Amino acid sequence: MSQAIAGQLAAHVARLRQSAPAQGLAQDPERATRWQLGFGPLSLNFGRERLDQPAFDALLALAAERDLGAAFERLFGGEVVNASEDRAALHTALRGDLIGSRASRAARAEALAAREQMRTLSAQLVQSQITDIIHVGIGGSDLGPRLVIDALAKPAASRFKVHFLANVDGHAVAELMARLDPQRCAVVLVSKSFNTPETRRNGATLKRWLGNDSQLYAVTANAAAAHADGVPETHVLPLWDWVGGRFSLWSPVGWSIALALGDEAFDALLDGAAEMDRHALGAAAADNMAIVHALLAVWHRTALGLPGRAVVAYDQRLAQLVPWMQQLMMESLGKSVTADGEPLLDPSAPLLFGGVGTDVQHSFFQALHQGTETVALELIGVIHPDHALAAHHTELLANLLAQGEVLANGKDSPQAHQRYPGGRGSSTLLLERLDPHSLGMLLALYEHSTYVQAILLGINAFDQWGVELGKHVAREVGAMLKDSSAIKADTDPVTRALLARIRGN
Ligand code: F6P
Repeated sequence: MSQAIAGQLAAHVARLRQSAPAQGLAQDPERATRWQLGFGPLSLNFGRERLDQPAFDALLALAAERDLGAAFERLFGGEVVNASEDRAALHTALRGDLIGSRASRAARAEALAAREQMRTLSAQLVQSQITDIIHVGIGGSDLGPRLVIDALAKPAASRFKVHFLANVDGHAVAELMARLDPQRCAVVLVSKSFNTPETRRNGATLKRWLGNDSQLYAVTANAAAAHADGVPETHVLPLWDWVGGRFSLWSPVGWSIALALGDEAFDALLDGAAEMDRHALGAAAADNMAIVHALLAVWHRTALGLPGRAVVAYDQRLAQLVPWMQQLMMESLGKSVTADGEPLLDPSAPLLFGGVGTDVQHSFFQALHQGTETVALELIGVIHPDHALAAHHTELLANLLAQGEVLANGKDSPQAHQRYPGGRGSSTLLLERLDPHSLGMLLALYEHSTYVQAILLGINAFDQWGVELGKHVAREVGAMLKDSSAIKADTDPVTRALLARIRGN
């Protein structure tokens, strides 16, 4: 960001730090409704953020400076937004085409053809003896479908039960093989690269267990490798280099979502995301939920310097939201250089953590209330539940509202241990209901917020070079675990000591 805006943000932070905790709220109670954006079934209330109007205006000036409208057009139009890999990031083409550029039209056509292929393969499976789907994949090839199915599937009503396998830990695959009948399972190997060691290893083990390649399927951009591993040619669904792994649940990576929830629900998920795409591309910055969400994140991380971001969903069905969001935001924004490779001057990704309310109120919330570190906090709630246990829901939402209030307002006490400092901000995101459409909107909101944060910070949101070195070294160390003669003189001494311990000598 420019020196001028960085200076303005710093001045606002200094001014706000001098004011009493939560003073902004007390002086301007009207902001509780003014700072509430609504779009369809979603609303975002940021009236409890440690922010006032002049500071928010400076954030809007930052948005204008970075020309976010043009940034969205580059993304949606299929320009190379991932320079270090020379790629577009056209996940929006999986759910529509708002720009009609040559690249976005071509991608949209491929996405629609793949949707047809998914439907054909689903119909074949419906006619078969298969009852269980084992979705094998990791990172972006796992977390999105896992979240959506966990949130929305009603196993009793579903033709297929989907099981996820990500970890290379043999306990995971052994547990699945022990309880499932190979005759009734289809194994779907989901890997954009088809070169991810965990997925290859789990796939090989399950292939032996199935004893029948006709029950193997793959979703990949590397069809040749899938065929080489025995997946029949007609059982391979495509992926493309223009879809990043962590933005891929809308692609054939989400085939297991369609199998678990049905085609109609998968379409509704995509339509919800498409609705958020239109909003992100079209709405003015101050009314744009994705942009405001991102501006608040930059305010927390860059201006206030908050090291952490806690996300707490007061809905059991969203238990998998945080792991998905961790990959989305920390893989996208966890960089120390700008998109041009220059050192990054501002802090980048926050340490994102969280879970489900009310559970986490009994784990890390003590530290949020009285610890010495302040973190950004996002509370998520669903207004209308899909059960008839009204008393439970009242209690759940009461907790959500109470936590934000107490963190902001605090409470004095003559007893030091019972003092709550207050002045700890939060945002509250409410959904009318949790259904495929609203979940699609919510996830697309976070995708676009992540992209906007990257633009504001000057980061490439779509590469992840940081995860490569560990994979490479794991291969070398694996060879040393199998054969001690592979241990070299320059092997790291701690690795060497631990190898000796593991090998028992
Ligand atoms: O964690 C690194 C990563 O490359 C992610 O970006 C990706 O989602 C995951 O591995 C899985 O990759 P693939 O789909 O190629 O197996």
